[in-house]
Amino acid sequence: MVYLSTEIYYFSGTGNSLQVAKELQKRIPETELIPIVSLLDRDIIKNKAKTVGFVFPIHALTIPLSVKKFLRKTDLASAEYIFGVATRGKTTHSAFDKIEEMLKRKGKNLDSYFTLTMGHNDPRGKGYLPETDEELVKLESEVDDRLDSIQKIIISQEKRHKFY
Ligand SMILES: Cc1cc2nc3c(=O)[nH]c(=O)nc-3n(C[C@H](O)[C@H](O)[C@H](O)COP(=O)(O)O)c2cc1C
Repeated sequence: MVYLSTEIYYFSGTGNSLQVAKELQKRIPETELIPIVSLLDRDIIKNKAKTVGFVFPIHALTIPLSVKKFLRKTDLASAEYIFGVATRGKTTHSAFDKIEEMLKRKGKNLDSYFTLTMGHNDPRGKGYLPETDEELVKLESEVDDRLDSIQKIIISQEKRHKFY
């Protein structure tokens, strides 16, 4: 079997989470990016890496349905360090509580998790107003800084829970 140090499973509607997943791949050696939607027709999803990450957007204050479906099927047997990165518009959320609950049933837990605020892509969201160009530039630069510290935490396998 090919040794992979890290697998990042991602789901992305409009590219924010894909961008984050790609940036993490650049920053973490020997990382494979795997689209969650390509696996949803499987009965069991077997992981191969010791470090496994999930990157996804917040939908309706929690994880998207496809991520929930994926987590139910993933075995995580190989995983020794598990992290999650959520991208969101602007609300609080319970995504990581939900993931913890699902992982517990497999005898696993989230070692670190992070939330990144990015451009909001849901025009039905309460109080939705598109960000201005200046606001987007500022958000992008904040995400870039956060990714640098997230990279360090993942590479050193630090156990750290951080919502914002
Ligand atoms: C159906 C839907 C529901 C969403 N619900 C929330 C939410 O509850 N809270 C929030 O902060 N952002 C919410 N968003 C915004 C996304 O989480 C945010 O824009 C994210 O970065 C999009 O990532 P993506 O481009 O990878 O899909 C929602 C977006 C969609 C499409």
